[in-house]
Amino acid sequence: MVCNHETCNHPHIDHAHNVLVLDHHNDHREQTAHALLSFYNVLEYAHTTGVLSTIQRIRPGIMLIVENAPSHGAYELVRLLRLNVKTAKLPVIILLDEATPTSIAAVQECGADGWLAKPFPRSKLIRKISDLLNRSVEQEWQNLPAIQSMALRYTVEAFNNIADTIANGGPIAYDEVSVACEPLIEAVNANNFMGILNGVKNHDNYTYVHSLRVATMLTLFGNAINLPPHEQKILASGGLLHDIGKMAIPHSVLNKPGKLDLDEFEVMKNHVTATIYCLEQDPTIPKGIITIAAQHHEKLDGTGYPYSLGGTKLNDLARMAAIVDIFSAITDRRVYKAAMPAEQALAIMSDEMSHHIDTNLLGMFRERFLDALRTF
Ligand SMILES: [Fe+2]
Ligand SMILES: [Fe+2]
Repeated sequence: MVCNHETCNHPHIDHAHNVLVLDHHNDHREQTAHALLSFYNVLEYAHTTGVLSTIQRIRPGIMLIVENAPSHGAYELVRLLRLNVKTAKLPVIILLDEATPTSIAAVQECGADGWLAKPFPRSKLIRKISDLLNRSVEQEWQNLPAIQSMALRYTVEAFNNIADTIANGGPIAYDEVSVACEPLIEAVNANNFMGILNGVKNHDNYTYVHSLRVATMLTLFGNAINLPPHEQKILASGGLLHDIGKMAIPHSVLNKPGKLDLDEFEVMKNHVTATIYCLEQDPTIPKGIITIAAQHHEKLDGTGYPYSLGGTKLNDLARMAAIVDIFSAITDRRVYKAAMPAEQALAIMSDEMSHHIDTNLLGMFRERFLDALRTF
């Protein structure tokens, strides 16, 4: 979505994923905005007039400024931003015409967070933005109660390591995931976990956000029905790992704003078999985790994927995972859609999905989750 700042009043937009692009070259600015479209809400500016007050109002998650922006110029503008308490920590990337020792020194001296020299590949731009957004989000985690902060830090590290391992073709290390999930389980059992769900939502790796939300809510679910600790560990680890095969799905499909067409949906479905393949590379992975991953898109009436399993063929832990996965997907915020309130999502699930999901389990999840929400 490209918003004109004068007319942008989208109530659903989360400010953390607003990227403000300040570039007076119309073609360059539009190219940059276009490259970011499926990932962020892009706010385009051609001039600096009034930009400081508008930044305070719009509160972008990050700002890209072309080096020779008119009137102030990028370096002076960043110095002004750093003087204001509301914008002092706003991540800023300066877009250079050329990376010379002088310009790189100027970037550092003015207090900007990074630079890119034109022309830059789209992947590099997105990576840079994502890293900076995540740096600010992860810094905020330090303000949470220790156990919640640990749950977030351990799981994001394990998740990043899994991504690296998969990229290098190696087997994932279940040990590390298992240890990373311990603070999460402890936080849920102490009913001290809402900061985890809130703290992760602005993170810029959507697969991680979704996986951690599923892991947290699945653990909560297991706790609510008094599952023993080893099964809670399977639920937490299974939640974190259930979609890791999405790392093999092209960005254009994974992050497509809106509905996938039939061909794209076929590609997306492959994430389940890709996940199973990744998990099976480590022989120490408990079977329950593979079952959760394999069956979380199956449906009671046999219309799910990839195996069209139904009824009694569906494992209980996987039935729980299917409920939490759907609930998480509906209540997750994406660039192109607002988060749906929990009560509304649960009502839709019981009214419209009763032939797909286990309604007894849904009732138990509903009760426990709404209880938890009321506590905070
Ligand atoms: Fe999935
Ligand atoms: Fe999922």
